[in-house]
Amino acid sequence: MNISDRDQATIWHPFTQMKLQGKLPAVVGAEGTKIFLEDGSVLLDMISSWWVNVHGHAHPHSIERITEQVKKLDQVIFAGFTHEPAVVVAEKLLPLLPGNPSRLFFSDNGSTAVEVALKMAIQYFHNKGKARTRIIAFENAYHGDTFGAMAVGGRSVFNTAFESLFFEVDHIPVPVQGREQECLEVLDSLLRSQEPAAIILEPLVQGSAGMVMYAPEMLNEIVKRCREKGVLIIADEVFTGMGRTGKLFAFDHIAEKPDIICVSKGITGGFLPLGLTACKAFIYDAFYSDDKMKALYHGHSYTANPLACAAAIASLELFEHPATQASIERITQKHKAFVKQYSGSPNFRAVRSTGTILAIEFETGNSTSYFNDLRDKLYAYFIKKGLLMRPLGNVVYVLPPYCVTDDELEIAYQAIAGLSHQPLTSLL
Ligand SMILES: Cc1ncc(COP(=O)(O)O)c(C=O)c1O
Repeated sequence: MNISDRDQATIWHPFTQMKLQGKLPAVVGAEGTKIFLEDGSVLLDMISSWWVNVHGHAHPHSIERITEQVKKLDQVIFAGFTHEPAVVVAEKLLPLLPGNPSRLFFSDNGSTAVEVALKMAIQYFHNKGKARTRIIAFENAYHGDTFGAMAVGGRSVFNTAFESLFFEVDHIPVPVQGREQECLEVLDSLLRSQEPAAIILEPLVQGSAGMVMYAPEMLNEIVKRCREKGVLIIADEVFTGMGRTGKLFAFDHIAEKPDIICVSKGITGGFLPLGLTACKAFIYDAFYSDDKMKALYHGHSYTANPLACAAAIASLELFEHPATQASIERITQKHKAFVKQYSGSPNFRAVRSTGTILAIEFETGNSTSYFNDLRDKLYAYFIKKGLLMRPLGNVVYVLPPYCVTDDELEIAYQAIAGLSHQPLTSLL
């Protein structure tokens, strides 16, 4: 039996209705932008494998750093002990993070980085003897799949079964073009009527919602208004961080800065899971006490796993190379040119980009949901063209590893352009 057959007999896949899912292709290797399949075919990874492989697959520098580390220390409990890889991650990352945070807390993935941020914010007020627990979040937000992260996420079919168990969250409109005023009015009325503990923001781009983009000025204004009312600012940079928006972090585009910041995905270059939550000194100080009850009682078995830390160090070292920033700039410019050329194409409702993120919203005529038929047809169309693209409903996006070549980008652009005019019914 091949790998795909064995998988079908044993495994339950994420975000998948298993009954409707055929056999899944098995990946046997990956290098740079290329993914090698069991049947000998090759795909170009135009989504950086769920947005994590920022430097491409199997980067030799990451392999070297992880290999060195595994020979020294594989894993050790992080309560009661520390180790150099964790300290180096903190020393390297803290000065790079917007807002000059002073402390770094380790967890395992984006969802747990968000859980930690929410707990930090709520317990901050608890430790200060203040009853502030409400959280503000964007409509249609996605912050992960653990319960706290789901609660601050948008309400959708993905979490209907759990909705009655969520804590109360106040959702505000995303300030996309045309909804700026509405967003600020809803925010102002919340800030007038209650004392929220925190606001959690996907800065500049909401990834899972369909690469929804809004202006830096609006992000700045929201943060400013919240700060005036003592609301803690949580930046969820799990997706937007590590260069995706053109700068290292999305908050680098604006003057206001967060109090707490969540990082994951590209931090390890896609090699190993790691979640990080950084906070400013005044938050840490509210936990720093002779009173044991004021500690942050949160941790995971693999907290600050040394191999994940080594992968993060390697990824951060790669960001120190001018070539990485040059690539980010090159991709940014290529995306912009695509937007210019294809905006207004009959089949494209909208074409937009921010940094290395390019999104094309297809006309559907009817539903725009994640589940519309077009999504599956588009997915299959791109696979046939040798491209791994994973449309979010009717939104196709290109989010390549920074090692992508101009020629490879061109292959993706041409495949998308091929759908700009022809009747989409030919796909359906
Ligand atoms: C903004 C944002 N936050 C959190 C998460 C959750 O990250 P993870 O899938 O690593 O738990 C994601 C995942 O896509 C995300 O886009």
